[in-house]
Amino acid sequence: MSAVVFHEFGGPEVLRLEEVPEVHPGPGQVRVAVRASSVNPLDWKVRAGFMAQGKPLDGMGTVGFDAAGVVDEIGEGVTDVAVGDDVFGLGSGTAADQAVLEVWAAKPASVDWAVAAAAGVAGETAIRALDLVGVGPGTSVLVDGGAGGVGAVVVQVALARGARVIATAGADNQDYLREIGATPLRYGDGLAERVREIAPDGVDAVVDIAGKTAPAVLVGLVPAASQVVTIANFGAGEAGVQVTAGRSPRALEALETIGGLLAEGKLVIKVQTFPFARATEAHRISEGGHVRGKLVLIPEG
Ligand SMILES: NC(=O)c1ccc[n+]([C@@H]2O[C@H](COP(=O)([O-])OP(=O)(O)OC[C@H]3O[C@@H](n4cnc5c(N)ncnc54)[C@H](OP(=O)(O)O)[C@@H]3O)[C@@H](O)[C@H]2O)c1
Repeated sequence: MSAVVFHEFGGPEVLRLEEVPEVHPGPGQVRVAVRASSVNPLDWKVRAGFMAQGKPLDGMGTVGFDAAGVVDEIGEGVTDVAVGDDVFGLGSGTAADQAVLEVWAAKPASVDWAVAAAAGVAGETAIRALDLVGVGPGTSVLVDGGAGGVGAVVVQVALARGARVIATAGADNQDYLREIGATPLRYGDGLAERVREIAPDGVDAVVDIAGKTAPAVLVGLVPAASQVVTIANFGAGEAGVQVTAGRSPRALEALETIGGLLAEGKLVIKVQTFPFARATEAHRISEGGHVRGKLVLIPEG
């Protein structure tokens, strides 16, 4: 099988498309013939060695934490899926012809492969974050960084739950935020004042996607610091903010919900696709930090 791999930590140029040994599912896992695999910021953080805690690379590094594909091998104890089923979900080393998924859900027939691949990490993260701050019908939420992979899903899932959504983005993404149903604002200096102009009493919850706004500013907009959740500012706990990382035990339920919303057209994920051989370019764009929607890699042939 071929896979996007690296043999040294470094910039996007260390990525290679190579023939590698086949992978097989362990107990409770499935293997898919990958039709699409998304790029998440975690990919370039791993590739650059930022997640290695100073340790050297052990063997070959892989990228990809979600994919959509056709099940072609089933691990011990898996009974809810059959060879030939179309699924999307979460795993590692998914930027490959074949990948092992640890959590998956059925891919609705009407949903494109690339969109389904894009929905894995972003969908699970979005639901985990929204649940932690209790975003539901009649609540208001500020999504700080609403135009990217996770943010655009957070915006649309919150709207589907009946919340009122204010979201931030740079100048180029204000129209996109409006298109997906949020009230758009610019991020940066003066954000709190801009929020209070349209929500004088503040908001019920904040989901911090980019981790770039000072926690004190976000905390000032909600009734209690714990009503702010961040997925990117790992020092924000000191300000009483909830910090979330790692997969939820309810990831399966989250993926099923996301699949349902995609099928109903309540969630639209804008994707930009690249063949595996152009993974370097996709990583470079991701690393730039201003992605609209999701970047997705497609296997050749
Ligand atoms: N903790 C977890 O479980 C978890 C899970 C998934 C991702 N993450 C992390 O969460 C972060 C976002 O992931 P992603 O996939 O959504 O990334 P992404 O697709 O690259 O999107 C990043 C977004 O950040 C926005 N942004 C840039 N500068 C900003 C600022 N100063 N203030 C507010 N927003 C700003 C960008 O908006 P513009 O383009 O409009 O500038 C862009 O939409 C990454 O650090 C990722 O590693 C954490």
